[in-house]
Amino acid sequence: MPRVRTIPPVRGIAARPARSARFIGLVAACLLSMLAVLAGTAPAAAEDGTAEQLISAYGCLQCHSVDGTIPVPGVPRLAGQKEKYLARQLNHFKLGVVVYDGEVVAARRHEVMNDLGKRLSTPQLRSIAKFFSSKACKTNAGATPPRPDGVERCEVCHGGDRANPWRDTPSLNAQDETYLKRTIHDLWRARKGYDTVTGRHHRLAEVMFIDADEPNLDAYAEYFAAMPCGRK
Ligand code: HEC
Ligand code: HEC
Repeated sequence: MPRVRTIPPVRGIAARPARSARFIGLVAACLLSMLAVLAGTAPAAAEDGTAEQLISAYGCLQCHSVDGTIPVPGVPRLAGQKEKYLARQLNHFKLGVVVYDGEVVAARRHEVMNDLGKRLSTPQLRSIAKFFSSKACKTNAGATPPRPDGVERCEVCHGGDRANPWRDTPSLNAQDETYLKRTIHDLWRARKGYDTVTGRHHRLAEVMFIDADEPNLDAYAEYFAAMPCGRK
């Protein structure tokens, strides 16, 4: 049987003079705040920061880059995305699930994003959404594949080769392809109701995919990812 090592109790701290107790307290506080920064816990000073300071303080730029373009496959492009949509998604991450009249109408689960969402105040998430939305979208390299059957139904709401006038509806053009593929399958899977496995749900998904067959889903993702940045 392995021997269990026990940590000997720290003795005498209470008996030490008040000055060294204060010193230990100060060191502990510094260490804790350093750990908090490393763990991504919001420093209090960031509360009033600009959007740029916030995305740096919260570590958003590590995954999304400072201008919201996409350096990592699977991570969504934020640059040039609809402001209202981005703010709403951050709020969905903050809430996890959105319940209306006893029904889950929207949901988003992602460990890091849920954790960060909870730390952002509403004014902070709005200012971050505005910041990323104002950045220039970058079209992905490569040729656009042929239009998949039925894609015009998606374009009614999402734009595609026409303008997308809806403030809450994301542009899919030039989005990261890996992210789009995953998201389309997640929304498809939850089209009849909230699915705890994927964690992403939107009550419009049933309408979105009303005539879309599952084998076509990847073709939609490839098509939109290769489209030039959408007109807002
Ligand atoms: C560890 C990497 C990571 C960090 C750090 C991170 N994100 Fe994300 N973010 C992701 C991933 C991955 C997704 C997609 C999650 C999903 O599939 O639902 C995402 C999704 C989002 C979305 C939704 C985009 C869309 O098109 O629906 C927004 C907005 C966002 N992040 C903003 C932020 C902000 C603001 C911060 C900092 C407070 C941040 N992210 C930090 C990885 C990260
Ligand atoms: C009736 C309007 C409508 C139609 C039609 C529609 N969508 Fe959507 N779609 C939306 C809205 C609104 C959202 C935002 C959902 C949310 O807030 O989570 C969305 C979100 C998405 C997302 C997530 C984007 C992101 O950045 O995370 C994908 C992917 C998507 N739709 C694909 C499609 C495809 C593919 C079709 C066609 C088969 C389609 N949609 C048809 C309205 C629509």
